[in-house]
Amino acid sequence: MKKLIVFGAAFAAVGFALAEVTAYKDASRSVDERVEDLLSRMTFEEKIGQIGQFLPAYQKGVESADSSKKPFSDELLQRVREGRIGSLIGAPGLENRTRVQKAALESRLGIPVIFGHDMIHGCTVTTPIPLAQSCAWDPDLWRRTAEMTALSARLKGCDWTFAPMMDIARDARWGRIAEGAGQDPYLCSLWSVAQVRGFQGDDVADGFHLAACAKHFVGYGAGEGGRDYDAVEMSEGTFRDIYLPPFASAVKAGVLTVMPAFHSFNGVPCAVNRWLLTDVLRGELGFAGFTISDWEAIAECDLEGHGVGDGPVELGAMALNAGMDMSMVDAYYEKGLKAALAEGRTTMKEIDEAVRRVLSVKMRIGLFDRPFVDEEAVKAKIDIKKDLAVAREAAVRSCVLLKNEKSVLPLARGAKVSLLGKLADDADHMQGCWSSFYEVQENATLRQGLEAAGFAVSFDAGYAVDASADVVVAVFGEGAWESGEAHSRSYIGLKPDQLAAVDAIKATGKPFVAVVFSGRPLAIPELAEKADAVLEGWFLGSCAGEAVADILSGAAEPSGRLTVDFPRTTGACPMYYNRLPTGRPSQVGGGMVNCYIDSEIPTPLYPFGFGLSYSEIAYSDESVAVTDDAVVFTATVANKGDRPAVETVQAYVRDLVGVVSRPKRELKGFEKVSLAPGESKKVVVSVPRERLVYHAGAEKMSATGKMHGWIASDSISGKRLEFVLK
Ligand code: NOJ
Repeated sequence: MKKLIVFGAAFAAVGFALAEVTAYKDASRSVDERVEDLLSRMTFEEKIGQIGQFLPAYQKGVESADSSKKPFSDELLQRVREGRIGSLIGAPGLENRTRVQKAALESRLGIPVIFGHDMIHGCTVTTPIPLAQSCAWDPDLWRRTAEMTALSARLKGCDWTFAPMMDIARDARWGRIAEGAGQDPYLCSLWSVAQVRGFQGDDVADGFHLAACAKHFVGYGAGEGGRDYDAVEMSEGTFRDIYLPPFASAVKAGVLTVMPAFHSFNGVPCAVNRWLLTDVLRGELGFAGFTISDWEAIAECDLEGHGVGDGPVELGAMALNAGMDMSMVDAYYEKGLKAALAEGRTTMKEIDEAVRRVLSVKMRIGLFDRPFVDEEAVKAKIDIKKDLAVAREAAVRSCVLLKNEKSVLPLARGAKVSLLGKLADDADHMQGCWSSFYEVQENATLRQGLEAAGFAVSFDAGYAVDASADVVVAVFGEGAWESGEAHSRSYIGLKPDQLAAVDAIKATGKPFVAVVFSGRPLAIPELAEKADAVLEGWFLGSCAGEAVADILSGAAEPSGRLTVDFPRTTGACPMYYNRLPTGRPSQVGGGMVNCYIDSEIPTPLYPFGFGLSYSEIAYSDESVAVTDDAVVFTATVANKGDRPAVETVQAYVRDLVGVVSRPKRELKGFEKVSLAPGESKKVVVSVPRERLVYHAGAEKMSATGKMHGWIASDSISGKRLEFVLK
């Protein structure tokens, strides 16, 4: 009997232990419950493992340019088995991923590894660079391109993308202007929400989506001189009104991770900036996911870098205490936190909090319950034809027609085209700055696109015009790697051979169409003056050639609108439409002027919001009415031409009397409207009063008093309306 009781007790204990062991693995429990249970079982080393993201190590002697085809090393798998790796950077490929995940499940607690990588504008099919896509002014399109990227990224073994970038970019010299949605906080907020929704889907744990990452928190685009990684000094009002809103919107949309930026913000590097990472991001915005440092950004705070700390012990503690949950690549947490804890620089509470946040996201994206990618299910969902159709639609809608005189565009059917410039027959550059995974090899170049559209094309990679041609289509711009990370430029004009070509082509007297491929707004006054038509084609991805041919041939209508100002010269940077006014005139001849004496025209060459259709669009009956909760703009918009058009009707305001000086114009809403030839429509853009708030320092102010408003086709034109807000 005694024996039986002892046996029974032991059995009960085992049963109890079993129930306890499985608590965090039990999908029916809440995420919080599961995480707390898991956390309570973890050793210090296991906790530190979870808050580190590492570079994979590969087996020696197995070479392949495609890292997903190189097997991970046994040492790496062993570290995973020991529970010392929470995350790996890169797209490992499914074989590697499966091996790692199996090793992770063999570890003491079986915590899966999360794989993060930059899946930015497409994966196997490339969509246009973000700056290009932003010109479509269409959140639904942005959601779809992100969703398609997420799905094919699953097949590369990714759980998590370091996207969307939502940095406001006002300086065309900054190479990373290519990676975001331009210069306007309202538009960029819509972009950030749409992309987060696309990447994360309605159910981020369904096996077909990715965790998104809002980056780079915050103000990264405001680096001095347009140089990458440079220091940022900014007023709190500008921070809150311009740079913070896209992140606030992404947090509201449920973004699961945030990447603090490299730069120092008012002297304190973002990586160790407690005010930014804890007070603002978590306290004010309510962010509940985890933060990941940018690549070695904690280590870059060291003596040779920002110089605010000395080594992993001090800096590991500083970053962790500031609210940085995971370190990318530099292993500063692994190297420093044990000693930091012993020296009292940080606490177990801080470490637990970071681990808790990482584990929660892992749970929320379903990693614990579905650690392996269901290859068949993902493949069954991928429809490459559909992806290419989305990529082509996005590419067409990203193009911005900047000039079209003498109706040189669309090209006459079957015209003989003298196609010039090496980018006209190049598919690689068209993929843009984040495109290491594209697999669709049959990307058409512009040359092939035009040929497929029925034009007789004679091509010259230089700029030698074919004398027998009816029209010249000449391609200008820069290569894909002249924008993007660490690719800022101190000169953004055309290159010498291109400038010479502009004059030579003009001298032929032939109709002259200029197509520009670039990752930034270039300063192109020569094209504006001498070409008959100018089309900005950015880098449009897998379908660049077909899409530009669609526009040039008239198979599709141009409908893109700029999301950045085009400066006339490099020296005009930073240039952005929503700048503050001054008390002095901005036009040469006005006396003590607020403009350059050697660049008479203070306005941009092409302003934010600008873009032409093949039809002429006219505005009339513009009016504004104020209701209790909205400012309502109305106009009649007419298509005066003989082609269908999509007009982006934009509403701008200027608050004339603020507690602090207010921008010359600010976009507050827009509507897209399709117009058949000859059709006119009454268009209403309703702006909620809440959208008009601004900040004087940290204080939120509502707009009151005299206001100006515009319902117009871009940020400098339109009839000025007046209204008063009480
Ligand atoms: C550095 C870049 O700043 C960031 O945007 C990117 O996500 C990481 N590298 C990882 O590749």
